[in-house]
Amino acid sequence: KQAPVIAPSILSADFARLGEDTARALAAGGDWVHFDVMDNHYVPNLTMGPMVLKALRDYGISAPIDVHLMVKPVDRIVPDFAKAGASLISFHPEASEHVDRTIGLIKDAGCRAGLVFNPATPLNWLDHVLDKLDLVLIMSVNPGFGGQKFIPEALEKLRRVRRLIDDSGRSIRLEVDGGVSADNIADIAAAGADTFVAGSAIFGAPDYPTVIGKMRAAIG
Ligand code: DX5
Ligand code: ZN
Repeated sequence: KQAPVIAPSILSADFARLGEDTARALAAGGDWVHFDVMDNHYVPNLTMGPMVLKALRDYGISAPIDVHLMVKPVDRIVPDFAKAGASLISFHPEASEHVDRTIGLIKDAGCRAGLVFNPATPLNWLDHVLDKLDLVLIMSVNPGFGGQKFIPEALEKLRRVRRLIDDSGRSIRLEVDGGVSADNIADIAAAGADTFVAGSAIFGAPDYPTVIGKMRAAIG
């Protein structure tokens, strides 16, 4: 298991001051920027595209940017996010016509690749591609909105993916997204996650360093 990463989800940041608020979350101890892309088609909400990511890079955000694509189709937007400055690009297998091809496109564009599992998406999507992935993302809410409640069934799924990753012998990150807070993060880490997305728990808190500090203390 790798060193824990905390990835503030800027879906819950102040969009009118996005650069400043993102920088504050990183200065407060965030490791990566989690960047949620929603298209009002694959999920029922509409957020931000490559131009916004590029604007964050131009503003001076240099931390890894972890792009979570909730869009359909996937392939044609991948190069745009890579050019804009994405570090990792993750997508949902149901949203891609050819999962293996999409992974290849992400890597050819110079980014690390992740596959995302909704609460009801079976893990057998990993069967033939795990070795090509840099990250597996387990959703602990249904995608589309911040501030939802953690779905506890995600813990068993995390344990199963942890075993698959350990058996693979590769350094694949296991990320969790949805309803993560300082109160439940210890249990989530115990289930095997090493990369923790948190939106409302961080940006909804009065003091970012305090909440990120609590999270880090809880996961050791
Ligand atoms: C939901 C997004 C999440 C969201 C998490 O579809 O993928 O990244 O920002 O928000 P919280 O941490 O508030 O559940
Ligand atoms: Zn996300």
